[in-house]
Amino acid sequence: MTFAPKILNWYREHQRNLPWRETRDPYKVWLSEIILQQTRVAQGMPYYLKFVEAFPTVHELAIAPEEQVLKLWQGLGYYSRARNLHATAKIVAEDFDGKFPETYKGLKSLKGVGDYTASAIASFCFDVPEPVVDGNVYRVLSRYFGIDIPINSTEGIKFFKELAREVMDPENIRDYNQGIMEFGAIQCAPKKPYCLLCPIQESCVALKENKVDQLPVKLTKTKVRNRYFNYLVLLDDDGNTILEQRKGKGIWQNLYQFPLIESEKMLQAEELRPLIHKKDTVPQTESISLYNNEPVVHKLSHQHLYTQFWILKTSDILKEGTPWEEIGGFPVPVLIADFIKTLKI
Ligand code: ADE
Repeated sequence: MTFAPKILNWYREHQRNLPWRETRDPYKVWLSEIILQQTRVAQGMPYYLKFVEAFPTVHELAIAPEEQVLKLWQGLGYYSRARNLHATAKIVAEDFDGKFPETYKGLKSLKGVGDYTASAIASFCFDVPEPVVDGNVYRVLSRYFGIDIPINSTEGIKFFKELAREVMDPENIRDYNQGIMEFGAIQCAPKKPYCLLCPIQESCVALKENKVDQLPVKLTKTKVRNRYFNYLVLLDDDGNTILEQRKGKGIWQNLYQFPLIESEKMLQAEELRPLIHKKDTVPQTESISLYNNEPVVHKLSHQHLYTQFWILKTSDILKEGTPWEEIGGFPVPVLIADFIKTLKI
């Protein structure tokens, strides 16, 4: 038996029943794939269900306020995905009359839809014979065929896409594509694959050559950058605080936060004080105290954020302030949501 029928047999026996596998609605498949990028199924599932309930079709998503979309997305990270999701929904609703393109090329022309997502929607919804290549597929193919070309090199990306196309089953592309990803997620897992019970063990090159734990090969990513964030948590006598919206490009574009001072290193209160004077959105305050003695470390793919929360009490009434009880309604980075939960005022 060749590779593809083995994968299909395994899938028919082991597949999980996931809601996006029970539909051919390209809106729902697209939504699930955007949510599941860089996110495990267990974490993504509640978000998928929330989104489908709030926005049953692309039209409801298209007309939703951005704040509602960001709020529902809160906790998933990589917020550009949510903004692209919203922008694409508007395009599909307005320019395409709510209908997703049915070809790989048409799908790929949509914002935030790359090679993987276009192949996934085209094959799952329209039976277009395009192979999907995600992290699971790289792992299965590199191990089974014993390929050590780095999966994130230009050569590797091209090589694995061609290999995936050669070994796929174009007649059963929907199940085959789901199957190879599921096989990677469950059987040929990254850390502890179940090689002893694997139905394709006798022809797996990595197993034969004892290289399972060395594949796939990945080029080491760029160095991480350390950043130091000082959030100014203002409190007036009426229980108001100040939230600002982040502008410009970057990870948390359009989310809300306490006024922020970024520094080159961790600061003491005496070092922070003169910097606060320069910030015109922040009034003079009577007291400054550091809330967390140890910085909260938030790790993103290319940056580590060392964060200190400073409590600034003022007897001035904050005119543009937000009552503390209402801040839960604003979309904020999880780092800040976690802090808000711990602080009782
Ligand atoms: N991860 C990304 N896409 C997926 C899918 N369609 N099914 C299960 N896990 C996934």
